[in-house]
Amino acid sequence: MPADLLAHADAAKGFMPADEGALLHRVAVERAAHGPVLEVGTYCGKSAIYLGAAVRQARRSGSPATVAFTVDHHRGSEENQAGWEHHDASLVDPESGLMDTLPVFRRTIQRAGLEGEVVALVGRSTTLSAHWRTPLSLLFIDGGHAEEHAHNDYSGWASWVMPGGYLVIHDVFERPEDGGQAPYHVWQRALAGGAFAEVGTVGSMRVLRRDSGDAGDPVG
Ligand SMILES: C[S@@+](CC[C@H](N)C(=O)[O-])C[C@H]1O[C@@H](n2cnc3c(N)ncnc32)[C@H](O)[C@@H]1O
Repeated sequence: MPADLLAHADAAKGFMPADEGALLHRVAVERAAHGPVLEVGTYCGKSAIYLGAAVRQARRSGSPATVAFTVDHHRGSEENQAGWEHHDASLVDPESGLMDTLPVFRRTIQRAGLEGEVVALVGRSTTLSAHWRTPLSLLFIDGGHAEEHAHNDYSGWASWVMPGGYLVIHDVFERPEDGGQAPYHVWQRALAGGAFAEVGTVGSMRVLRRDSGDAGDPVG
């Protein structure tokens, strides 16, 4: 990760520890030359900087068409709303009273110089995934952490990971006392489906590789 982009990632608002970000960047560098990467859960763009840095590197190495897509409705998850643990009042739009992380995301990506590499898809994950048909070199799931949203993200996007591509899941905590269980359940589902095998882990970040089926085939 180039030092300037690492500094931007460190400075960005968000929920990605540096060691987990380094893993995300490393696996995205491995894969980004093979096709677009996509994350679910943009928030303010912290993890998108790691993905955008990998895309830049892949472009410079001869894959000019690759790109990082990042999906979010920018209204925040349950835990980002007022009164909850991860609420940040500075992210509330004063006119609507709703959370709006889109302006901060845009500033973050512009400051990092990654507007060409990182493309925001603004909307509900299920709305966007229902229309998605493009094989992905890497899928990073870090969206809503309620069971419903985490499973929808897997159901909607994971089948589009290409053979040899990576599925990266954030906030996988095996013990309930360490954190919410939905990402852990999605990780279990991915392994049980048989299409993915685990290839790496740092902290709460799990990396799985697609070992069977083609993009678009069911993954369980
Ligand atoms: C944990 S944060 C993402 C953190 C980010 N990856 C980072 O590194 O800082 C989860 C994000 O998912 C978004 N989100 C939650 N449910 C969603 C849904 N159903 N569709 C789209 N975005 C959703 C929230 O708005 C929130 O910004």
